[in-house]
Amino acid sequence: MWTNAGALKDDKLVDYVRNLNPQLRQLTIFPSEICNYRCSFCHIWGDTGWALKEPQRVIREQLDIEVLKRFIDQVAQTGNKVGAILTGGEIMLYRHFEELVSHLRSRKMNVYVNTNGSLMKNRLPFLIENTVVVNVSIDGPEEYHDAIRGKGSFRTICDNIEALMAEKKRRKKMFPFVSVNMVLSTSNYHSARSFIPALRERFKDYTVVLHDTKNPWQRRRDLSVNFSPLLYTTPERGQAYADQMKEHLDCHVSPAWQGFVEESIPIDTEALKRDLQAIWAEEGVDYSEYVDIHDYYTDIDNVFGRSKCVAPWHELIIRRTGDVYPCVDLPDYKLGNIYENSLAEIWQGERAVRFRDYLLNDNLMMCNRCTRLFADPETF
Ligand SMILES: C[S@@+](CC[C@H](N)C(=O)[O-])C[C@H]1O[C@@H](n2cnc3c(N)ncnc32)[C@H](O)[C@@H]1O
Ligand code: SF4
Repeated sequence: MWTNAGALKDDKLVDYVRNLNPQLRQLTIFPSEICNYRCSFCHIWGDTGWALKEPQRVIREQLDIEVLKRFIDQVAQTGNKVGAILTGGEIMLYRHFEELVSHLRSRKMNVYVNTNGSLMKNRLPFLIENTVVVNVSIDGPEEYHDAIRGKGSFRTICDNIEALMAEKKRRKKMFPFVSVNMVLSTSNYHSARSFIPALRERFKDYTVVLHDTKNPWQRRRDLSVNFSPLLYTTPERGQAYADQMKEHLDCHVSPAWQGFVEESIPIDTEALKRDLQAIWAEEGVDYSEYVDIHDYYTDIDNVFGRSKCVAPWHELIIRRTGDVYPCVDLPDYKLGNIYENSLAEIWQGERAVRFRDYLLNDNLMMCNRCTRLFADPETF
């Protein structure tokens, strides 16, 4: 879950952002967006996701590894400490996955992998040698997870996670940290309370703990469990975002925002809140600074996390087309393209400057349900 807390708030946060110098610290790479799953709530491949509306030939496009490597080299030459998040679609379907990870490592970048966990089996030693975090999606106990991600997928994924943890143990390795992320959606929220017990039952020889955002490294564990709220918007707010982008940034947005649209969220939010509080109490974690899940799901205008986003000062998002964006889930405001532009052109270009200037004063209508508002400016 996400915290509301941060050392910087209100005016202090605004001042902080005003005086912020752009310094690239994070690359988030979607080198391919293909996926072997069709998770029902997924904003890319789910029931309302954008990928099914695109010609499949286009979606199968994958980033040229040589072009990507050259861009990574330019990033490395800045001398900044940069972390790389690899995601997708399913990242392990990128045909150059190993080469990409090895290249990032050779440039001293820490690699964080977001995966559905289905394709890890043949890559365990590689992951152990080269990655810092492997974040696997599991959306509840077996029957709930399988209803969202496909029959039999819970077993496959758990077998793979267990094999990874066992291999780590055998090699006496600390990395990668293995975490599990459950997205709380309409079809699985009832099962939140039984999720950690189900994982403890499945992974009897391992320590499973609730991820504590405020003290992430405090407790010894083999597997940490994170709960994420559904990222969503309403049709009205999404359309307001599209209008805002056109009017203020001359940007015609892609259909990506439509992948987040939920007409309604049929969740008993008070019951879910009680369940989460009970989980936090059982696991000995202070819930008070976490997002209020009832407010989150019942008022789309509420802002959580921080009131201002700092991602465009620290992060670049590279998509399969080579297009580069400042926003992680919205391939709309294009800063450049790595097939055509240098890092300097992208990072210091007129478009990047304009976007940062805009965000100094205004948030976008989609910002208030974006994960990056929960990134701490001091630790981004
Ligand atoms: C898009 S997936 C890509 C990585 C990989 N395929 C996976 O499933 O973990 C990244 C994360 O986004 C989550 N996700 C997808 N759609 C979402 C939504 N509408 N709201 C919140 N999280 C979502 C997935 O559950 C997953 O944890
Ligand atoms: S595995 Fe990930 S990318 Fe694929 S459909 Fe599911 S959430 Fe979306």
